[in-house]
Amino acid sequence: MTTSAYDVEPGDAVHPGDPVVVDRYTTGARINHWITATSLVLLAISGLALFHPKLFFLTALFGGGQNTRAIHPWIGVILFFSFLGLFLRFWRANLWEHTDNVWLARLRDVLGAREDRLPEVGKYNAGQKVVFWSMSLLIVVLITSGVLIWDQYFSDYTTVEQNRVAVLVHSLAAVTVICVWIVHVYAAIWVRGTIGAMTRGQVTGGWAWRHHRKWLKELVLGRPKDQKTGATPAE
Ligand code: HEM
Repeated sequence: MTTSAYDVEPGDAVHPGDPVVVDRYTTGARINHWITATSLVLLAISGLALFHPKLFFLTALFGGGQNTRAIHPWIGVILFFSFLGLFLRFWRANLWEHTDNVWLARLRDVLGAREDRLPEVGKYNAGQKVVFWSMSLLIVVLITSGVLIWDQYFSDYTTVEQNRVAVLVHSLAAVTVICVWIVHVYAAIWVRGTIGAMTRGQVTGGWAWRHHRKWLKELVLGRPKDQKTGATPAE
């Protein structure tokens, strides 16, 4: 049996062996996240297939070169709107705070898992916030440059020179977003118990206490009115 932090009323019997679980993401947020993740993976594969002749064989996954060329921009449109959904859900919880500078300055302790030397973290740590804002910026750059080079519909609106610059910007942003995505996935796997947040929507009380203590405290004790740290139960 599991015990959600929200299900426990004063006086309820909570057995020492029962793991306490904390809600972190709603079903809607998780569906939104996995649509975004799938879109990015498909975009990366189809984009790389079009990027270099050696990777052209990947177009077979999308029904050949012509189909890949036609599908890739539409997946980009799905990614953009899907990420917009994530952005609207999470931007507030990713606002930069003074303690984030301290967290970043102590990156050695972060990598050494010496969390007792770090300031208490809200819903997201500084690393997650950097990833969030980098993804937000890069996805805007990708959709803008992508539309400019979407010849099927927009070729009349750009000159050849503008088109060339847009291709370069699009490629650089794509490579960077893939790197940021690798960091995101690596961190999610590295910090044990994090994947469950996005699959089951829940984390253990121990995970929350260890990695996001300020968030947990705000959930349990309530948030001071003057603070807007975005600590919502499960967004
Ligand atoms: C496909 C592999 C992916 C995996 C395994 C993965 C895993 C996760 C996990 C476990 C979390 C929860 C972290 C926590 O609550 O502390 C999370 C959060 C999040 N993920 Fe992913 N993710 C993937 C792809 C993506 C992609 C492609 C994007 C966007 C382009 C993305 C955007 C986000 C955002 C915005 C959050 C909320 C964290 C924040 O706002 O800082 N994820 N992801």
